[in-house]
Parts: sequence; C-alpha cells; structure tokens
Amino acid sequence: MVMKIACIGTGFVGVVTSAVLAKLGHTVAGLDIDEKKIASLTEGKVPFYEPGLEELILSTISSQNLTFTSNYELAISGADIVMIMVGTPSAADGQADLSYVYKAAESSAPHLKEGAIVVIKSTVPPGTNAKVSSIISGLTKVDFDIASVPEFLKEGTAVEDTLHPDRIVIGATNPKTIETLKELHKPLTDNIIVVSPESAQMAKYSANVYLAMRITFANQIADLCEKNGADVDEVLRGIGADKRIGSHYWYPGLGYGGSCFPKDVKEIAAYAKSVGEAESIFIAVDDRNENRIEKMMQKFDKFVNGFAGKSVAILGLSFKPNTNDTRVAPALKVIPWLIDHGAKVTATDPKAIEEIKPHLPGSVLYSPSANKAINGAQVVMILVEWDEYKSLDFRELVSSMSKPSYLIDTRNLYTKDQIEGVGIAYRGIGK
Ligand SMILES: NC(=O)c1ccc[n+]([C@@H]2O[C@H](COP(=O)([O-])OP(=O)(O)OC[C@H]3O[C@@H](n4cnc5c(N)ncnc54)[C@H](O)[C@@H]3O)[C@@H](O)[C@H]2O)c1
Repeated sequence: MVMKIACIGTGFVGVVTSAVLAKLGHTVAGLDIDEKKIASLTEGKVPFYEPGLEELILSTISSQNLTFTSNYELAISGADIVMIMVGTPSAADGQADLSYVYKAAESSAPHLKEGAIVVIKSTVPPGTNAKVSSIISGLTKVDFDIASVPEFLKEGTAVEDTLHPDRIVIGATNPKTIETLKELHKPLTDNIIVVSPESAQMAKYSANVYLAMRITFANQIADLCEKNGADVDEVLRGIGADKRIGSHYWYPGLGYGGSCFPKDVKEIAAYAKSVGEAESIFIAVDDRNENRIEKMMQKFDKFVNGFAGKSVAILGLSFKPNTNDTRVAPALKVIPWLIDHGAKVTATDPKAIEEIKPHLPGSVLYSPSANKAINGAQVVMILVEWDEYKSLDFRELVSSMSKPSYLIDTRNLYTKDQIEGVGIAYRGIGK
C-alpha cells in the first residue's frame, strides 16, 4: 500500500530515511526549518557526504516520490505517517535536549489528519512519547497514535543500512499501528521486532552504549598490552573466536566520536541518575573516553621526543571513514593539543577539510592529499582509516620526510616491521 509520509528533520537520518521510503514507492515529504538545506535538497544536492545518497535522492526526486519543504501544513496535511527525526543533543546536565522533538510535535499537531501515526525516530529516553502525545493532544481534536521506531543506521554506510537493516524495532501498543508500521518496513527486512515504546527506546540507547563500551574496553586492554609486551590485535583475535564475544567491532585507538556515541553515553548516564541509578558504568565509559586523547597525546609526545618545533602531518579529519561529519572527531582535540605544544600541523582528509576548518586554529595548513601533507613532515599521525591511507608507500615517502621520522598509527593500519624497515620509527596502539 502506498502511504503518504512526512519526515521531519532532514539531517543525516531524515534525508536517508526520506529517500529510502520514497524508493519503496511511498509519497514522501522531507521537512526542515533550515531553508538553505531544503533549497539545496530540492535541487538534489545533499549537504553532506554519504556514499550512494545523492544518486538515490536524484532518482526519487525525478520519480516525483520525494519532495522537500519548510512548510508544515504542506508536508503534514494528509500524511498517514509523520516521522520525527530532529536532533536530540545532550543538554548541559547530560540529559537529552528534547526541545526540538517537542517543537516538531507542536508544529505538526494542527495539521495532522484523523488516524495519523506519529513515529519518533530521534533517539529519546523512555517517557518521551507520553510528553509528545500530550503536546499534540492539546493542539488537535483528531485521533492519532504515537509509536517509536528508533534508527540504527551508521554514517558512512547509511543508505545500505537503511535499505538492508539488521532489524527494525517497532515500539507500539495499538494493533492497527503495529500492522501499518510492519507493512511499511516489510520490504526492508523480515526481522521486525515489535516491543513496547519504552523497550524500543532503551534498545536504541543500549545498542549505542554497548558499542561505545566495546571501544572503551578495547582501549583499556590496549593500554595493558603496552605494559606487558602483548599485542592488542592478537589479543582481540584470540577472544574474538569465542562466539559469545565475536571478532567484529573492535576498534582500539583514540576512543569513540561522532554525533551519537558520545552524546548517547552521556544521555543514558544522566537518565540513569534521574531515575535513581546514579552509579552506572556509563559514567566510567564516558570519563575514560573523554580523557583518552589527552592520555595518548602524552605518550606520543614521549615517543617523538617532544612535539615542540616538529612538523606533523595529520591524516584524517572526519570522525570515521566515508563521511565528512566531523562532530566529536579526534582531530578536533589532537590538532589543538599539538599546536599548544609547539608543533606545526598540516592536515588532510578526502572529504572533511571544509567542514573542520572553522573549528580548528587558523595556523593549521591543509593539503589535498596524504602524499603532499607528508612532504616535509617529521611526524605522520593517522587518525582515520580512510581506504587511501591503508596502502601508503612509506618506502617512497620516507625520502620526503624530515629526519628522524615518526609514524603514529592510531588505527593500527601498518606493522612495526614494515615501517621501521624503511627507516621510520613506528608507534601503533596497544603494541
Ligand atoms: N546521525 C546518525 O548517525 C544517527 C543514527 C541513528 C540515530 N540518530 C538520531 O537521530 C536523530 C537525528 O540525528 P541526525 O544526525 O539526523 O541530526 P542532524 O543534526 O543531522 O539533523 C537534524 C535536523 O533537524 C532539523 N530540525 C530541528 N528542529 C526542527 C523542527 N522543529 N522542524 C523541522 N526540522 C527541524 C535541523 O534543522 C536538522 O536539519 C538524533 O536523535 C540522533 O541521535 C542519528
């Protein structure tokens, strides 16, 4: 059944979801208060880098299944499903700032049609649906229902993740709503899990916090390996063979970043405190991650005999590969640290230079490629595992570097033997 769907918030989640639902044949309106974003999307231009997204947007705009607007009345009137996908940043006390969600509910309410389903896809704590429901009820007389369908996509593979999700979690209680939402998601996966709205919301936070915790755990193991001669990659291979643990998703390095993990860990820690469970492991995970870069930079400073006066090439400015999103990217802490400690920095990234520039000191130089950034540098630091940084020819590059030369490989892309064999001192993580 073709449905009319309004997607409120055309950020990472909203744009991808709108495009995928339009590809399934539904009539979708992407709605945002940011008129510049809407103007750009209307022309098929995606304001951020996400593999495969621009093609999908262009094809669904041209098939007339997808439109973009800033007009609530236009988008919401007649919509069978209204999806709220606006941001939920952490407030000063760590709790999720739900003001954007409430505002979206308030603006939608007067235009809802009888029987509309309002779906919250933003990451929100349990209890949010009741508040949103009461805001809407105060502004409309129509009968509507509210459900939670949290989003689990990953930036960098967002289109693929949305077209082929591991699972869809539907948090709803009304049988008609459950049927409609199952019908909507059926073409994407057979693995549809129907639970209460509270469980759906907890599942979203739990998934992100668990993954953040794995990264923190790997970092703690890496720190121990650095003291005792073990190699963290070998240790993780050793434990990954255990089916209860698994060999995927181990990323020892400078800690987790991006727009979700750091805020979601802080939010669940604050939520736990608000319900009387103040002593959570979430606080410890957040603390370890917040202090991680400072701790590692001090170790790296010793390794290079002090960064002061040295030229450093930074490879990778986004928070992870295949995205130009720089929210809580390691470069945002590493580069100011280096400059404060007297280093000269030349930075490069395949996609994220323009995004990060306004957030870094003016003395940073930028280079269009790794080879050019490395030219003249004494220290190379790899911060992100972009494909182009996985097979750099250091045998060639060493001749363009100042001596003595150092490689700090925070993603463990190379081996000590490989790099020291060409005359560059090597330091990985947890080795
Ligand atoms: N980015 C991710 O990888 C990801 C993955 C899963 C879940 N989430 C969650 O999804 C939600 C959205 O994340 P995002 O990264 O897409 O956010 P984003 O910051 O990229 O986009 C949010 C958009 O909402 C718009 N907006 C704000 N208030 C509005 C209003 N009243 N009406 C209409 N539009 C409004 C903003 O202009 C912006 O374009 C968050 O709760 C986030 O935690 C994000």
